[in-house]
Amino acid sequence: MSNFNQESVLSVHHWTDTLFSFTTTRDPSFRFRNGEFTMIGLKIGGKPLMRAYSVASANYEDRLEFFSIKVPDGPLTSHLQHLKAGDQVMVGRKATGTLVIDNLESGRNLYLIGTGTGLAPFLSVIKDPETYERFEKIVLLHGCRHVAELAYGEMINEMLPKDEMIGDLVSDKLIYYPTVTRDPFHNRGRITDLMNSGKLYSDIGLPMLDPAHDRAMICGSPALMTEMRASLLAKGMVEGNQGEPGQFVIEKAFAER
Ligand code: A2P
Repeated sequence: MSNFNQESVLSVHHWTDTLFSFTTTRDPSFRFRNGEFTMIGLKIGGKPLMRAYSVASANYEDRLEFFSIKVPDGPLTSHLQHLKAGDQVMVGRKATGTLVIDNLESGRNLYLIGTGTGLAPFLSVIKDPETYERFEKIVLLHGCRHVAELAYGEMINEMLPKDEMIGDLVSDKLIYYPTVTRDPFHNRGRITDLMNSGKLYSDIGLPMLDPAHDRAMICGSPALMTEMRASLLAKGMVEGNQGEPGQFVIEKAFAER
């Protein structure tokens, strides 16, 4: 049996010249935990070309969603960005990854720290009722260069709080904090700087991240991951992995982001 399912593209949304999302059908046998990634791709020159993509939809939804960068000469994304409804994509039969709440020890507040398309796994995590059972507040930080890149802001601010299943949990517990570094915007600056200076905490009205009580998940630019990891380790926090829960987790699996 092939390692991939063929899925049909249901919709495509272009956020900017460099970012787009698409949804596909979902084979009923495909199971994943919220926050995990799978391999997706296309047959190019007769051969499958596959890359790791976080599933941006929740594991109880009947379609799959992916959030992608468009790399002009990228071996896969230069093709993927031209997808239209009805096209076929290959989706792995298995999912894996470290950004799952089972890899975190219980705690008070959960910080989901993402830049660019590193937001994708957190879109799935914030739709999971268990996330809200495990933590008091969930702080979703999305850092981008430009305001136009703050994809999914409307979904998070407007649609999720009205969701039949998780709307009340979201309204009560989710704090969404988008920030940009190269445009005027109400929140400005790098996530790391906003955390270090304390501005983030005064803006959201929560105490500073406390290694004894708070937990974090990190996904995004390599520079952000390296810096955040060093900063959390310096605070004495323990990194979690598959099957070994810790106080923060990082996804290292992405190539062409
Ligand atoms: P900046 O504009 O100051 O480089 P990229 O598009 O390069 O992946 O970056 C996405 C966002 O992540 C940008 O806002 C960028 O800020 C920010 N960023 C880049 N490196 C770091 C880092 N080491 N720590 C925190 N944020 C970072």
